[in-house]
Amino acid sequence: MVHEEYRHDHDKGWLAELRWLSKVRTFWQTDLNRAIVDLADPRPGERGLDVGAGMGAATVLAAKRGAHVVAVEPGGTMRLMCRIRRLGNRARRRIVVEAGVAEDLPVAGGSTEVLWAGNAMHHWVDHAAAFAEFARVLSPGGRLVLVDEDYDDPEHPDHAEFAGHEAEMTPVNVVAIVAAMQGQGLQAWGNHQRLAGVPVKVVRATRPA
Ligand SMILES: C[S@@+](CC[C@H](N)C(=O)[O-])C[C@H]1O[C@@H](n2cnc3c(N)ncnc32)[C@H](O)[C@@H]1O
Repeated sequence: MVHEEYRHDHDKGWLAELRWLSKVRTFWQTDLNRAIVDLADPRPGERGLDVGAGMGAATVLAAKRGAHVVAVEPGGTMRLMCRIRRLGNRARRRIVVEAGVAEDLPVAGGSTEVLWAGNAMHHWVDHAAAFAEFARVLSPGGRLVLVDEDYDDPEHPDHAEFAGHEAEMTPVNVVAIVAAMQGQGLQAWGNHQRLAGVPVKVVRATRPA
């Protein structure tokens, strides 16, 4: 169930969402999603959560590694793509696609050993609510990895096109996010680094066992 107050503009109906179909080549599989899954390191039998899963690029990689993955995605077109993709995937029994948002996750408390999000933080309208949800759904000892590309870094190849995009979305301030997560009782840290050849902002956290 997607809370009305958290409806994203990607979720204003099928017509508004159809433009995402033009992004299939961009979203289907990316080196960055491979790197995010490497960082999150989902292991066989673990329960994973892909927040803002899009077309499931990271979801399928994690499921192929043997993890059980819930792909949470508010956009109907993205979910449809993710479901079609799931059907064609050998790991489909380990993939569930759910409507939902970071601020209101459709999974039980303590049900997630590993959570990740790629290029999604700047979409979340309420970071405090999202981080409270992450602290709720992580199991004791569970971990999370959040990665957003840093288009404001002049070394990003798409800097000219996308610099300043967070001004229209939600700012991704690593220091503030780490502090907010620590306020939720998580052990959190983060940095600016390069991943898959591009500058990124990374936030990592664990729920104390
Ligand atoms: C740039 S896309 C990235 C998709 C995918 N993670 C990837 O790397 O290919 C951002 C995704 O976040 C989703 N999104 C938007 N608002 C959200 C929210 N409040 N909670 C979770 N996901 C959200 C969008 O619908 C979109 O699919």
